[in-house]
Amino acid sequence: MRPNESSLGYIRELFAPEDAALETARLRHESENLPAIHISPDEGKLLFVLLRAVGAQRVLEIGTLGGYSGIWIARALPPDGHLTTIEHDPKHAAAARRAFEEAGVASKIELIEGDARAVLAGLSPGFDAVFVDADKEPLAEYYREGMRLLAVGGLLLCDNAVCDNRVVDPDDDGGDVRGVREFNRLASGDDRLAATIIPIRDGLLVGTKLAP
Ligand code: SAH
Ligand code: DHB
Ligand code: MG
Repeated sequence: MRPNESSLGYIRELFAPEDAALETARLRHESENLPAIHISPDEGKLLFVLLRAVGAQRVLEIGTLGGYSGIWIARALPPDGHLTTIEHDPKHAAAARRAFEEAGVASKIELIEGDARAVLAGLSPGFDAVFVDADKEPLAEYYREGMRLLAVGGLLLCDNAVCDNRVVDPDDDGGDVRGVREFNRLASGDDRLAATIIPIRDGLLVGTKLAP
């Protein structure tokens, strides 16, 4: 039997409690009218555990929003670790900058404001993890860029891997769900990657890069 709402509460309370900075960052989505599509605390803790397990030092995030996931990621990094995160909405970026300051992780984070496709093209390889969590239509391109930027042994992470369960609806050919399916298809069939989808929240694709 899968965890129900009350076991999920148990998991969150025991393993993924929020401190004041995380709670403030999450509540800001409501108070400042940002879309409340941030990761959940249990998903944040999963990212934290995975990043610690591979000793990640340099991480790339595509889609910052209000900085909630960025705080979980930055806290998994060593003192000299570094998160690069990309956001095109100035209002989201401003909220994230405040959240990073309040969480005491601002010095570890470079927030690049701009369209992900343009920003990615200017980045150089060597990331220990890439967390893809922005718009869904261009996911095939984010896959190619993510794989280019990842070091061998690095983690490819992609949120919303089941897209509200729309991936299995044959009548749904929306651009966003097609992007998600394409990312999953590329990740499952690439000899350079070993991957699966963890059924947490909306699905988290996790892959390890095996070869250049
Ligand atoms: N990772 C965040 C949630 C990100 S929501 C968290 O869990 O806390 C997706 C974000 O991607 C939104 O803030 C949206 O503005 C941004 N985004 C969407 N398309 C983008 C693009 N093409 N380039 C950069 N950012 C984009
Ligand atoms: C949506 C996007 C996300 O990244 C997410 O985690 C949840 C929802 C969306 O576009 O609806
Ligand atoms: Mg998401």
